Amino acid sequence: MTQTDASFDIPETLAACATSVLTTADAMEKTGRSRAYAAEWFRRRKAGDPMPIGSCPPPLQPARPEAPALLSPREVPRRRPGTTAGRKALLHAVAHIELNAVDLHWDIIARFTDVTMPIGFYDDWVQSADEESKHFRLMSACLETMGSFYGELPAHAGMWRAAEDTATDLMGRLTVVPMVLEARGLDVTPGMIEVFRKAEQPDAIAALETIYAEEVGHVAYGSKWFNFLCGRHAIDPKDEFHRLVRHYFHGALKPPFNEEKRADAGLPPDFYWPLAEEAGFTRDLP
Ligand SMILES: [Fe+2]
Ligand SMILES: [Fe+2]
Repeated sequence: MTQTDASFDIPETLAACATSVLTTADAMEKTGRSRAYAAEWFRRRKAGDPMPIGSCPPPLQPARPEAPALLSPREVPRRRPGTTAGRKALLHAVAHIELNAVDLHWDIIARFTDVTMPIGFYDDWVQSADEESKHFRLMSACLETMGSFYGELPAHAGMWRAAEDTATDLMGRLTVVPMVLEARGLDVTPGMIEVFRKAEQPDAIAALETIYAEEVGHVAYGSKWFNFLCGRHAIDPKDEFHRLVRHYFHGALKPPFNEEKRADAGLPPDFYWPLAEEAGFTRDLP
């Protein structure tokens, strides 16, 4: 683990670490704390002295910096990716998603401590939170190369809605966040990499390739723990996934899907395609 800042005091429980990240507004401090706490979690795990999970209620909404201004998706100006302004806006949007993802992964840790889970559940989300923190910093560095910074442009409000909607339902959270929203990231990232390949921006290509590779893991963690809980409650995972998406997700699952990376992440076509078909999309079966 790199880029950690040892100057942070480490809270005594993992849940307190999570709430500390969630209540930190400044993006560099939030991601710095996130990385330092993750490093400490894994250091103690390796030493055979794991940090207790504890319990520490997280805020309903995470603290966020004053900039960027958060607008409804309709108000966020659209820019063409073929322009410098468009590429800047794309990186800014990804930075915003990554910062949100840092909070989402710490939130799942602190929010559901009443549900007894194996310690590997916490390993996976701490790992994910650490990677999202790195992703945010990679995007920030790319923005700086382009003479910009996170906060310069407005960003989407409403990204926390999925967290609020599923604040009392761990299986709903796993369904909507890693298995729908982060899986969507796998679908769209290759196209973004292509934009920066055409523009010959190697730092952005490298950063997005790191993100692309590591996001498969986050979807896989979601799928793993979703299936685990289905097994615990003896329910059919596919039917339950469909039920929870219909209940909690306010949008359509839209093709084209990255079927190969979704499969790598343990997300089979019969999970997502029937929902896309319900929304009117059709698939050409080979
Ligand atoms: Fe990420
Ligand atoms: Fe992620």
